[in-house]
Amino acid sequence: MKAIEYQKFGNADALQMVELPKPVIKSGDVLINVKAFSINPMDWKIRKGEMKLMSGSNFPKYTGADFGGVIEETGSAVTGFKKGDEVFGVVKNMMKEGASAEYISVAASHIWKKPSDIGFAQAASLPVIGTAALTAIEKMGRIDSGTNILVNGATGGFGMILLQFLKQKGARVTAVTNSNGIAFAKTWGANTVIDYRKEEVLSREETYDIVIDLSGKMGYANAKQIMKAQSKFLNPTPRPIDIPLSLIRNLFTGKKHVIVLASPSKKYADALLDSVKHGLDVEIHKVFPFHKFKEAYRYAEQGGYTGKIVIEQQ
Ligand SMILES: NC(=O)c1ccc[n+]([C@@H]2O[C@H](COP(=O)([O-])OP(=O)(O)OC[C@H]3O[C@@H](n4cnc5c(N)ncnc54)[C@H](OP(=O)(O)O)[C@@H]3O)[C@@H](O)[C@H]2O)c1
Repeated sequence: MKAIEYQKFGNADALQMVELPKPVIKSGDVLINVKAFSINPMDWKIRKGEMKLMSGSNFPKYTGADFGGVIEETGSAVTGFKKGDEVFGVVKNMMKEGASAEYISVAASHIWKKPSDIGFAQAASLPVIGTAALTAIEKMGRIDSGTNILVNGATGGFGMILLQFLKQKGARVTAVTNSNGIAFAKTWGANTVIDYRKEEVLSREETYDIVIDLSGKMGYANAKQIMKAQSKFLNPTPRPIDIPLSLIRNLFTGKKHVIVLASPSKKYADALLDSVKHGLDVEIHKVFPFHKFKEAYRYAEQGGYTGKIVIEQQ
């Protein structure tokens, strides 16, 4: 079978297509014929060696955490799934495994039946960003129509889902996005939209109960300028030092630095499936065929689009 792997840290040129034997599954696993996998920023952060502490430095490495596909074979201990089922899911260890192959072996605990009203590309896009958005909502605590929230980097994958959940909660949301994302941010429920290339959000007079930075560029120290006295900065892109530092700092300030680390589970998958049933929008900006994997990653990394980039196989 064909697979995409890399043998050294680097840019998209480090990725290569190789021939590998089909994986042999263990009793609790399923063999999946991958139809689509989505691109997440984590893919290139790992590939560029920015997450070595968690990913390790062993090669080959694969890429692509979440996927949609068809079950080819089930392990002897697997119940609830059978050959031919259309499923979506996420690899168990996102730091060390990838879905970038014609066939992958995954734990049955990490797949869910794909709803028939969404395609493989949308299903493959949901686990990482959907789990992240639900985790962020939990970390925000009580949200109502009086809660003033700033979402910085609001129309990438994570922001797209988060905006829609915040709208359901009735929060007052300011979305900071690129010019291509303005109309989408409004559709997904933002009350105010700022183009980050035209306005410096840190210069605004307004202050927020919650600031969440999905661009990875704002940082707690900057965000404090636009936070209310009792407020939260949600950080899904922490440096390792931020984890202990935030715990200590939070004892002495009303402006809390809250780390968001999402981990997919059945609870989140069920919530996402329910949201899909109720019309959750999963915008796919562009789909690349499997053999154009380098182009897909280059395109995704350069930014400037809204929603998700997906790689599909025939
Ligand atoms: N901790 C966790 O569990 C977890 C889970 C999922 C994701 N994440 C992280 O969360 C972040 C967001 O994920 P994602 O999938 O939404 O990524 P994404 O699709 O790349 O979205 C990031 C968005 O930030 C925007 N942006 C870039 N520079 C900006 C600036 N100066 N001001 C405002 N916005 C700016 C980008 O716009 P342009 O396209 O114009 O650059 C893009 O729309 C990533 O860093 C990802 O690794 C963490």
